[in-house]
Amino acid sequence: MSAAPKSPGPMNPSPVNPCPTNTRLHTLGPVDQIPLGEGRAFGVDGEQVAVFRLRDGTLRALSAVCPHRGGPIADGTIDRQVVICPLHQHAFDLETGCSRTGAEPLRAYSVREDAEQNIVLHNEMNDVEN
Ligand code: FES
Repeated sequence: MSAAPKSPGPMNPSPVNPCPTNTRLHTLGPVDQIPLGEGRAFGVDGEQVAVFRLRDGTLRALSAVCPHRGGPIADGTIDRQVVICPLHQHAFDLETGCSRTGAEPLRAYSVREDAEQNIVLHNEMNDVEN
């Protein structure tokens, strides 16, 4: 059996763009404005985003308005895995935004601390409809 001749591949072997979507980076100020174990809401591209600083110092970010009845997610109680909405106690996974109690999900954002101890939020705009 003979193998089919291989055609030369494209001359552009460049890897996938490391920032493939319309991602905007937002620096939201120093991490220590958020006490350990708490959250704060920030306005980002016209949306409210809740940023949480876990007790181990890591950051998580979710949309700040509860899909149940608009509760303030940044004021919720957190542990290492979930935030509990303060109004009716729906629980949301801090990594994915998925509800563990049957509510609609929250949007999850990528967030990190930079070398200057500032909060840097990545807002992917690829789901914006025209
Ligand atoms: S508004 Fe969040 S659980 Fe009802």
